[in-house]
Amino acid sequence: MDQRIDIQICLGSSCFARGNKRLVKVIEQYLNEQNLRHLVHFHGAHCFSSCEKGPLVKIDGKEYHQLTEDKILAILNGIFGKDAPDF
Ligand code: FES
Repeated sequence: MDQRIDIQICLGSSCFARGNKRLVKVIEQYLNEQNLRHLVHFHGAHCFSSCEKGPLVKIDGKEYHQLTEDKILAILNGIFGKDAPDF
């Protein structure tokens, strides 16, 4: 079974234009810097039909709305912070 955390970033045109273009890189960089890549399945997704709440990211089925760089980093820290594996 795939135990990895599923992170889908909406790459629909609305989310993409309003910030996800940048957030793809922010998330990539975070996962790389924290050595988390093997714990995560990070991939792009089509429009979730929640454009008015975008830009958004879905993590293990939960949508996170109106994201900014600071907000997504805080969310990722919340998920990985304490339990991040020690290398
Ligand atoms: S473009 Fe992201 S929800 Fe529609």
